[in-house]
Amino acid sequence: MQFAKRLEKIPPYLFAEINRKREALINQGVDIINIGVGDPDKPTPAHILQAMREAIDDASNHNYPPYEGTQEFREAAVKWMESRFGVINLNPNTEIVSSIGSKEAIHNTFLAFVEAGDYTLIPDPGYPVYRTSTIFAGGEPFTMPLKTENKFLPDLSIIPEEVARKAKLLWINYPNNPTGALATLEFFEELVAFCKQYNILLCHDHAYSEMAYDGYKPPSVLQIPGAKDITIEFHSLSKSYNMTGWRVGFAVGNAYAIKGLSQVKTNVDSGVFKAIQKAAIAAYATDEAELQAVMSVYQNRRDIIVKGLQFLGWPIEPPKATLYVWVPVPSGYTSTDFTTLLLDKCGIIVSPGIGYGMSGEGYFRIALTISDERLHEAIERMRDAGIRYA
Ligand SMILES: Cc1ncc(COP(=O)(O)O)c(C=O)c1O
Repeated sequence: MQFAKRLEKIPPYLFAEINRKREALINQGVDIINIGVGDPDKPTPAHILQAMREAIDDASNHNYPPYEGTQEFREAAVKWMESRFGVINLNPNTEIVSSIGSKEAIHNTFLAFVEAGDYTLIPDPGYPVYRTSTIFAGGEPFTMPLKTENKFLPDLSIIPEEVARKAKLLWINYPNNPTGALATLEFFEELVAFCKQYNILLCHDHAYSEMAYDGYKPPSVLQIPGAKDITIEFHSLSKSYNMTGWRVGFAVGNAYAIKGLSQVKTNVDSGVFKAIQKAAIAAYATDEAELQAVMSVYQNRRDIIVKGLQFLGWPIEPPKATLYVWVPVPSGYTSTDFTTLLLDKCGIIVSPGIGYGMSGEGYFRIALTISDERLHEAIERMRDAGIRYA
């Protein structure tokens, strides 16, 4: 038996080595504080659970769902795009498709558009799927470094002309994982113009669209006039409504892009369980106060971590969005050295920046997915171990 060659080209799993060490420490009785993974710890809001309970008792939800999502789900998503972003005139029959979380739709978009010899333009640091899915599709990733001095936005002027001409997809993700960076509508405008010039599909991964603090509301690329000619955007209920396990979201935008993605999907999956689509409809009807109650939990945690790290000498500011705090490593360490030190000396798991690409070197990522008490404890453990930013 032999794996296909494409598997050899996939970079090692980010957490493989960390998991090995974690297991060893747990076996030695160490109490591990895990702030490595972006998986919300809080329950899904009660009204969504209630919608699911009712839907599950209805036998008409038990058979195969429509591949593209139920009409009711697609219409609810269109309505939400309108009320949330002011994006109007979306056609629920041609410009939207349900997805099994957003990871599935992201991956399948590569299969729909990328072939051997094509480039994809992907952010670095970035969600690792953009790179691996490029490789699965036989394409060549061209990385766009996200640098501190550019506020973690890609610099389009560094993309060589011949790469832009052969590029099929350009990926962005704002609010950004792992940096927590934001993008403005002006920047989206620049991207839309660039993608139109080179006939590239602009792919906006909007997984953190609702995870924002201090009154900030992240925009959609589809708010830019004419963006729909060239854009597909991926939405997910996973993070915003504590629903990572439910696997539901949607892709929206250019009808040709949605058609390509749907064609792959009809051949590899059979849609989202109808009861889950009913629950998703309830999620899209969540009132603002309830959503803010979910967000305030993360905002508090963010403040605990940022204040704690500032106390230990870190020159960081609170991010306005996402589940993450992106933190520079003290000088003299690589991101892997420093995350290993945190694990060995403090029993704390964070993610090394290098796991998100070469430009992630020099940083580590904290996920705000544990209680206030445990976050305080993490800071105390660092202080007691004499760890400071220098
Ligand atoms: C940037 C980004 N995009 C997409 C996803 C996928 O999320 P899901 O498939 O749960 O929607 C994640 C998950 O961590 C993410 O960080």
